[in-house]
Amino acid sequence: MRTHVVDHPLVAHKLTTLRDARTDSPTFRRLADELVTLLAYEATRDVRTELVDITTPVAETTGVRLSHPRPLVVPIIRAGLGMLDGMVRLLPTAEVGFLGMIRDEATLEASTYANRMPEDLSGRQVYVLDPMLATGGTLVVAVRELMRRGADDVTVICLLAAPEGVERLEAALSGAPVTVVTGALDERLNEQGYIVPGLGDAGDRMYGTV
Ligand code: URA
Repeated sequence: MRTHVVDHPLVAHKLTTLRDARTDSPTFRRLADELVTLLAYEATRDVRTELVDITTPVAETTGVRLSHPRPLVVPIIRAGLGMLDGMVRLLPTAEVGFLGMIRDEATLEASTYANRMPEDLSGRQVYVLDPMLATGGTLVVAVRELMRRGADDVTVICLLAAPEGVERLEAALSGAPVTVVTGALDERLNEQGYIVPGLGDAGDRMYGTV
C-alpha cells in the first residue's frame, strides 16, 4: 500500500476553511467538491488510457482517451456521496457503485448495510471515496470487498487521514495494490475516534445535521 499526501497550497487553503467550525453546510459541500477535484487530479495520474486517432481542424493526430474496462467510482455512503460529483467530473466515463458502511460508535467496528457494485471487478481500476480515514475500519472492510470481487488496482481518496487509520490499512492490506490519496495527514485520533484537529463529523457538516 502507498500513501500520497497531496502537498498543494490550494488543497491546504480549502482544507483550512473546511476545518473551521464556522463554515456552514453549503460552503462545506462546495469546498469538499472542489477539493475532490484537486485530489482526483493526483489520484488519477495512473488511470488507464488507450491511443485514439483523431482529426483536428488542421491535421490527423493520435491522442489518448480513458480506456476500457471503465474505471469504477465507489462512494462510501453517507459522507462519500459528497465527493461523487467532483470525482465523476474528472472521470466522465466512470461507472458508479455504492457501499453503505456504518460504524458502531461504541466498538468503532464497521459493517456493510448496502452494497450495489458489479460482481466482477477483475481488471478494473477502482476509486473509493470516503472523506475521513479515521480508524481505517470502514476502508479495510470496503477494500477487502472490492478485492474479493477481483479489483486489482484500488485508490482511496480522502480529504483527511489519521496516522492510526493509515497504519491499520497498511497492516491489513500490506502488499495489496492500494493507494491512499489524502489532502492531509493529521495528528491523531481522539477517544471518540475523531480525527484531531480534523473537521468534526464530515457527514453531519455536509448535510447540516450537526
Ligand atoms: N468520521 C468523521 O466524519 N470525522 C472524524 O473525525 C472521524 C470519522
